[in-house]
Amino acid sequence: MNIYLTGDIHGRVDERFRYDWPWCMRPLRPDDVMLILGDFGLLWYPYAGYWEENHSLGILSTFGCTFCFIDGNHENHDRLAKLETVQLFGAPAGKVTDHIYHLRRGEIYEIEGQSFFCMGGAASVDRARRVEGESWWPAENVTKEEFQHGLDNLKRHGSAVDYVLTHTPPRKIGLEMFPGERGDPHYDDPTADKLDTVLRRITFKRWFFGHMHFNCVIQSDPRFVALFDKVIRLGDPRIDDENMLPRRGEICPTRAQRRSIRNR
Ligand SMILES: [Fe+2]
Repeated sequence: MNIYLTGDIHGRVDERFRYDWPWCMRPLRPDDVMLILGDFGLLWYPYAGYWEENHSLGILSTFGCTFCFIDGNHENHDRLAKLETVQLFGAPAGKVTDHIYHLRRGEIYEIEGQSFFCMGGAASVDRARRVEGESWWPAENVTKEEFQHGLDNLKRHGSAVDYVLTHTPPRKIGLEMFPGERGDPHYDDPTADKLDTVLRRITFKRWFFGHMHFNCVIQSDPRFVALFDKVIRLGDPRIDDENMLPRRGEICPTRAQRRSIRNR
């Protein structure tokens, strides 16, 4: 069994998993797990049944493995809240299909003997051009209750997990990625502030996050890994020696590339 991780998908599964599947990766197997770090974006429409949504969900199911996503800010949070709750890897999760699950905020999942603390959510930097209930949902931000639920679970787990999966990084790390940009909505993010508290309270091996649309290891604290369009395999020695991912500055989407990322 392999556990893979990747960053924001924004509803586009072809590019990430079919056409751009890295040649160095093994083919996905039925017992593999693919963890997606938010902005999944597939459940976007007001209700299920749209052709585009079904088509994308169908593509994922052809792999046969399990896809698990934490939520980002660009999600239809009303749809996520209505998913059937099932037990998955020892904790409650939202079931989309037999192969696709939403890993909920504040839960700790045990996959192959390794613990994953999950806390999706983030503030949208493009909130101003979005419409509430159509392209933006207030539930994008972690609530006090969800945060407390997460802290309680961590305490019960001895304040130690193997991995942390979040959409936005803690504010401390965000500021390091974009120094001097205080005032940018990325950093006026209440979820990032809450994650600063989590960071102070727990021990962990690695913390993976999306949201920033970068692939990089954070220089000041290599436990933090930002993922966007790279797919990495957990346990790959190239990650553990920190050389698999480029450091910030070595890979940086151009303005045109960033524009091309669809807004969802
Ligand atoms: Fe995103």
